Amino acid sequence: MNIFITNHCPRKCSFCFARSRIGLSTEQESADIMSRENIRRVMDFLERSEEYQLRLLGGEPTTHPEFLDIVKEAMDRNFRVQIFTNGMLKQELTDALSELPRDRLSFLCNVSPQAKDTEEQREQVRYTLKKFNQRVQVGVTLTGPSMDYRYLIDYIEKYNLLRRIRVGIAQPIVGPTRNSHLATAKYRETGKFIVAMARECVKKDILLGFDCGLTLCMFTEEEIGVLTKSADGFRGLCDPIIDVGPGLDIWHCFPLAETLNSRLDHFRTRRQILNYYKKITMPYKQLGCMAECVSCIYKKRQQCTGGCLAHAMNSLNRFPPRIAPEPCEA
Ligand SMILES: C[S@@+](CC[C@H](N)C(=O)[O-])C[C@H]1O[C@@H](n2cnc3c(N)ncnc32)[C@H](O)[C@@H]1O
Ligand code: SF4
Ligand code: SF4
Repeated sequence: MNIFITNHCPRKCSFCFARSRIGLSTEQESADIMSRENIRRVMDFLERSEEYQLRLLGGEPTTHPEFLDIVKEAMDRNFRVQIFTNGMLKQELTDALSELPRDRLSFLCNVSPQAKDTEEQREQVRYTLKKFNQRVQVGVTLTGPSMDYRYLIDYIEKYNLLRRIRVGIAQPIVGPTRNSHLATAKYRETGKFIVAMARECVKKDILLGFDCGLTLCMFTEEEIGVLTKSADGFRGLCDPIIDVGPGLDIWHCFPLAETLNSRLDHFRTRRQILNYYKKITMPYKQLGCMAECVSCIYKKRQQCTGGCLAHAMNSLNRFPPRIAPEPCEA
C-alpha cells in the first residue's frame, strides 16, 4: 500500500502518472498534504492488517512539512519505511534522515532523465545518493524502447549504492489527463532493450528489478531465461497496489488514480481492499492492453494478465466511473 502524503513536487517528469494529482500544486503553500492524524489512521489500518511496511510517496513525499517527524513516528511504531523520492532533498533533511536506524529505512530514488532538472537539483540528488549510499536503489521509467543507462552504473559505483536498478515502463493515466507513456507497439523492441541492459548490468554485478506492467510477449523464451538468471525475473501479472490519498480516499494504482476511487474507512484490512479491487477490475482484465490479448493462450491460462489495466480502460468508449460502487461487506 502506498501512502500519497503530498501532491507537491518541484520536478516535472514528462511521464508522471501522478500529474493529474500534482498538476495544480507547484507551491508548498497550496499543496494538499496528508494530516498527521490521517497518517496515524493509515498506520492503525496497516497494523490491523499485520503489514509493517510504510511506503511514502506523492508528489515528492520529502516536501511534506512534517516529513522527518512522520518517518520517526513510523519507525517508533516498528514500521519499515520505504521512501519513493526524486532525491531532491534539502541538505538538512538528508543529514537528519541519514542518522536514523539503517535497517528500517530505504529509498527508491527516481533518477529518470525525462525532466529538465536545474544544476541545483542535480547537486541535491548527488548529495542524497552519497549520504544514503547502501540504502538507495535507483530507478528509471522508460518512455521509449531504449535509453543511455551508463550514468546509473556510474552513480552506483561512485556513491556505493545498492547494486540494483528498478526499471519500469511508463504507463498511461486513465481519463483525459495525458502523460508521455510507452506505446504498446514499442513493447517488443523495449523488451529486447531491457534484456540487453540486464546482460550488461549483471557483468558489473548489478541486477535489474521490474515494476508492474511488463508483458510476457515483450520477451522470447530465451530472453525470459536471461531475465531469470541475470535479473530479478519478472511477472506478467497485475495485482492491485492500493494507494491512499491525503483525505483517505483510495485507488487501485496510480494509472487508475482518477477512476474507481473508494475510501479507506469502507474496509477493515488490506486484504479486503485487495479482494474488492480484484473483483471490480475483473471485467477490464478480460480485455488486456492489446487486441491480441483477448484470444491469447497465456491470458487464458493466467500466465499474463495483459499488461497495464489503464491501456484497456482507455481503449473503451467510456471511462469507468470516478467513484467505485460501495463494497457490499466491509
Ligand atoms: C509518482 S512517483 C512519486 C515519488 C517521487 N516523486 C518519485 O519520483 O519517486 C513514484 C514512482 O512512480 C514512477 N512513475 C511515475 N510515473 C510513472 C508512469 N507513468 N509509469 C510507471 N511508473 C511511473 C516514478 O518513476 C517513481 O519511481
Ligand atoms: S515522478 Fe515523482 S519526481 Fe517525477 S514529477 Fe512525478 S512525483 Fe515528481
Ligand atoms: S495477454 Fe496480451 S500482453 Fe500478455 S502475452 Fe498475451 S498478448 Fe501479450
